[in-house]
This record gives sequence, structure tokens and C-alpha cells, in this order.
Amino acid sequence: MTAKNNRANFGSKLGVILASAGSAVGLGNIWRFPYETGEHGGAAFILIYIACVLFFGIPIMVAEFSIGRRSRSNTARAYQILAPGTPWKWVGRMGVLAGFLILGYYSVVAGWTLDYIVQAATNSFAGQSADGFIHAFNGFVQHPWLPAFWMLVFMLMTHFIVVKGVEKGIERSSKIMMPMLFIILLVLAGCAISLPGSGSGLKFLLMPDFSKLNADALLSAMGQTFFSLSVGMGCLCTYASYFRKDVNLPKTALNVGLIDTSVAVLSGLIIFPAAFAVGIQPDAGPSLLFITLPNVFQQAFGSLPWLAVLLSVMFYVLLALAALTSTISLHEVVTAYLHEEFNMTRRKAAILVTVGCSILGVLSSLSLGLGKELTIFGMTLFDFFDYLTAKIMLPLGGFFIAIFTGWFLDKRIVREEVSNNGSLKMWIYRSWLFLLKFVAPIGIAFIFINELGLLK
Ligand code: TRP
Repeated sequence: MTAKNNRANFGSKLGVILASAGSAVGLGNIWRFPYETGEHGGAAFILIYIACVLFFGIPIMVAEFSIGRRSRSNTARAYQILAPGTPWKWVGRMGVLAGFLILGYYSVVAGWTLDYIVQAATNSFAGQSADGFIHAFNGFVQHPWLPAFWMLVFMLMTHFIVVKGVEKGIERSSKIMMPMLFIILLVLAGCAISLPGSGSGLKFLLMPDFSKLNADALLSAMGQTFFSLSVGMGCLCTYASYFRKDVNLPKTALNVGLIDTSVAVLSGLIIFPAAFAVGIQPDAGPSLLFITLPNVFQQAFGSLPWLAVLLSVMFYVLLALAALTSTISLHEVVTAYLHEEFNMTRRKAAILVTVGCSILGVLSSLSLGLGKELTIFGMTLFDFFDYLTAKIMLPLGGFFIAIFTGWFLDKRIVREEVSNNGSLKMWIYRSWLFLLKFVAPIGIAFIFINELGLLK
């Protein structure tokens, strides 16, 4: 803790990158990216996604970092400090709400990973067919209480780390986990690609077919960008409020974008070759990761069962940890907001968040089984939360963050934060500002309007 303003700091620059990357890398990369890619035609979707990362995601991430570090406060207060008496604070408040809703269904999927650790450890993948894995998954998510139980376990893990505070909890867990996750993903990609019949999966992933691109695919790619990078709701803004002055914001954003995109593409290199090899449809939706991967362990290591158990346990443990560093960041946004805005202790704020999100979590989990009939706009509650946050709230938040930083905020402040005491080259600053002022807001607006069908 620094005595001056009583706010914690991340201890090192590596810690900053790892914590931010820890927030970004998670189920969004390994679970959500492959199924969104699968539903929207493969390679062409990935190209659009990468364009969104470069033109929207990274520039807006730099903006979020600047707002957070400058104001050194939670994301709603940040706007009040930088733009007192204006309605900009609603951008921050919408972000807090988005974080709350995301945590409510994200924790359900995070809970699934815990169940799969147990299944992997007890060798229950052995001897099953691809159809068997599909049945097992559907049976599990529709179970009346088991997934809700795992969701609660996960929420409590998140809770205790958030209560312990920023530096110890977040920084340390990211340091060991990220490199390990990367290595195991590489190993699994190698295994998946070596399965017979995996070639058409690689083709699906690498040969773009632009005829599949429609308004929905554009919106999904944009939503996936914001979701995966943790951008658009003040998550990285909250983290940046714990950054020290000497952290290079554009460089950090580039690093995080690079790490996040590599993990996503690497996951694609596991899922699609494997799915095509065993005949699972790439547009299977949210179940894709969970029905495809057990096949990889089963088929690639069928003759070495101990290795199958070892690798699968390691994979699900790392997946759960990647999800944990993301749920921590979501929880932290809401906790910091309640703690600082309503004068609660951190512990009390965290308890409120945990209880509230657990209720949402139980409801979203039930909406996949018992409550399947109850739909909102034709979606289950789970799908509705996902759609509302990833495809509407985050891009909208990103749009306003770009406008706020690019047009409204005093350029002197922006330059001070972004240029890192003048060490950043001028042309980089100018290009960034151009992306932020024009490309990102116009691009986001175009994709929204296009989705509404108003351009036809
Ligand atoms: N980016 C994380 C993932 O890919 C999820 C996440 C964490 C997130 N914090 C966020 C998504 C903030 C949107 C906004 O799994």
C-alpha cells in the first residue's frame, strides 16, 4: 500500500503485464473464441477478429489504461474525477453493471472446468466415443444442482483472492500460470493436428471463405474482441488505477493483445483439427470445447492412459486458473466500485458482489436445464447475458471510452499518460489518436447499424 493515497500498486512491470494478460486470457480465448469462430465460418471470422483487435481493441485498451491510471480510482469515479459534473460517469456505471452480469454467467462455465478436472482425474474419459462425450456434457449442464454447486465453489475461490487484495492475489497467481498454460496448449495443438482427419479442421481455420460473413458475424467478431481483451467495461481501467507511473501503457496494451490473440488462435488450432477428426460439428456452440477436447486426450494417448490422465488434469487445472484470473478481474471492478463509492469495507463489498453474482450464476446455470423453457428474446438467460454484455454493452462501452478519451479529455492529460513522459515516438501517438478518434467509433457504429439492417 502506498501511504499517500492508500491504494495498492502492482509490484513490478512484469506483474502489470501478467495481471492484465491474466484478466484477458481466460474462457473467452479457449472456450468462447473457438465456438464463435465455428459458428461464423472459420478463417474469415478470424481475420475480422484480428482487424477488430488492432483497430478497436488495443487503441481502446490504451484509453482505458490512461483513464484508470490518471484518476487512480474505480471506473465510475474515474469519470467523475476527469470530467466532474458530466454524464460520463454513466459509462463507468454501465461498465460496473456489465462486469456484474458477465461474472454471473462466466462463473457457470468456470464451474464446468472444475467438474472436468474431477472427471479427468478419475479417468472417466477412457473408452468413450465422441457421442458419449456429447451425452455426458449435456447431462452434466442440465443436472439440477451439480453445475450450480461448482459455480459456487468457483465464486468462493474468486472471493477469497479478491479479499486478499491486489498484489498478492492477482500478481502471483498469474506469474506461474500463464507460461504453463501456453506450453500445454502448444502440446495439445500438436496432438490435435496429428490426429488422422484433422486436415479439414486446419483448412477451416486457415482458408477464409468470405461468403459466410454477414452482419451477425461482424457483430460477433467485434463482441468477441471486447470480451476476450477484457475491454469496454473498465476492467483494465480499474487495474490501471494500480499501475505505477513508469508503466508504458501502449507497450503493455500491445503485449496483452498479442498474448491474448495467440492463446485464442492456439485454442483454435486444438479444437478444429480435433473436432473434424472425430466428426463433431464446428458450430456446436458453447459445448464445443467440452465435447471436443476429451477426444484429444482419449485418441492421442489411448495407449498411454497415465499420460492421458496427467495431461488432461493439467489442462483443466490451467483452464480453471486462467478463468480464475479473469473472474478476479471482473469481481475486482464491482468490489472496488462498492468499496470506494459506498464507503464499505473491501470485505463487505466483496461479499455483496459474491452473493449477487452467485444468484445470477445459479439462475444462468438453471436456465440451461430445468429452466430451458423460460426465454428472453428467444434466448435462455445464460445466452441472453452473454449476448447483452459481449455484443451490446462492451462495444457500446468501448465506443464511449474512445469518444471520451479521443474527443473530450484534455489532450495534455492524454499525452502525458500515453506518451510515458515523452518517450513514445510522436507518429505512434498520432496514429493511436487517429484510430481512437475516428476508426474505432465509426467502425463500432457501422457494425451496430449494419446489424440492425438499416444499411440495406
Ligand atoms: N477476457 C476474459 C476472457 O477472455 C473475460 C473477462 C475478464 C472480461 N474481464 C473482463 C470480459 C472484462 C469482458 C470485460 O476470458
